[in-house]
Amino acid sequence: MDKKMIETIRKMPKVELHRHLEGCISAELLLEIARDYNVKLPSHDLNELRSLIQVQGHTSSLREFLEKFYWVGMAFPTLEAVERVSYCVCRDCARDNIRALELRFSPVFMSMETSHRWEDLLHAVLKGARQAEKEFDIDVGFIIGISRSNGLKPALRVVDIAANYSGLGVVGIDLFGDEEAFPPELFTTAFKVAQENGLNITVHAGEGGGETNIKIAIEELGAQRIGHGIRISNDEEMMAWVRDKEIPLEICLTSNVQTQTVPDLQSHPVRKFYDYGIKISLNTDDPAISNITFSSELILAMENFNFTLDEIKGLMLDALDQSFLEDYRKEILRPKLERELANI
Ligand code: HPA
Ligand code: ZN
Repeated sequence: MDKKMIETIRKMPKVELHRHLEGCISAELLLEIARDYNVKLPSHDLNELRSLIQVQGHTSSLREFLEKFYWVGMAFPTLEAVERVSYCVCRDCARDNIRALELRFSPVFMSMETSHRWEDLLHAVLKGARQAEKEFDIDVGFIIGISRSNGLKPALRVVDIAANYSGLGVVGIDLFGDEEAFPPELFTTAFKVAQENGLNITVHAGEGGGETNIKIAIEELGAQRIGHGIRISNDEEMMAWVRDKEIPLEICLTSNVQTQTVPDLQSHPVRKFYDYGIKISLNTDDPAISNITFSSELILAMENFNFTLDEIKGLMLDALDQSFLEDYRKEILRPKLERELANI
């Protein structure tokens, strides 16, 4: 791709819906936090740390990919550190010209090494993001994640806190983690409460597990969007069903290759989904773990799947339409983005 196009993509106003805050913590940031808060890491050498928390090539499965998160859990020793991490992640997104961002995180994961109260943790996360919103041209909404491996009890607590902070920076909930070992139906009770409370719902499904999980996520858990959903590509009937139900798929190309959700990039069904009329968004998932940026992912999509600049621009507006951000924020953002995109 020529340099001019790379610059165009970098400067283009962008919208991203599927990005894990924990997956945005680079070895540099983790080292800074470790230095400032006296956190002991297995190595304080940047390159060694990088090889511990960054995927090299690809992993053998989603489960092995998730093991890369282990040391990232040390990045939250105090609430001040939580706020700083949140600020840095939102700032870096703004520097990549992401204008509307949904950022997801797991309160269980972020308080694993400490005893942060979830309310305090959430306040710190929101404070960091609000500071970045003040300094940069970015709108951030948070999705609180339910970790599959933690079981139903914390899941109900996530729903409770998300409902209490809905409209106050929280825009929805998610179900993430080892899909093979913990299928979606284990969490039906929690998601029923979420639906009763009118929460927006996205669910990781059809990534580490089969297409039945996608059906259950939509029909029983009330998912309005699906994280990945790759497995419907095996099943024409399911593709038609997802298209007709207008359930958007949050696509993360590099992540899908690294977790071996697809055998290689060329086999990824993103173009097939798009041409079939399924709603999609393009996303990074865990950019620091995968060593990518949102811009580099968009370029990857253009280079490997022949997405044109106009199609990428259209996907940014589609992502905004699919976003769980509050309507008033979307109504302000849409004409602004339309105008800027038309001038590119
Ligand atoms: N799938 C499941 N859990 C995750 C992912 C993912 O892609 N990224 C971070 N946690
Ligand atoms: Zn994800």
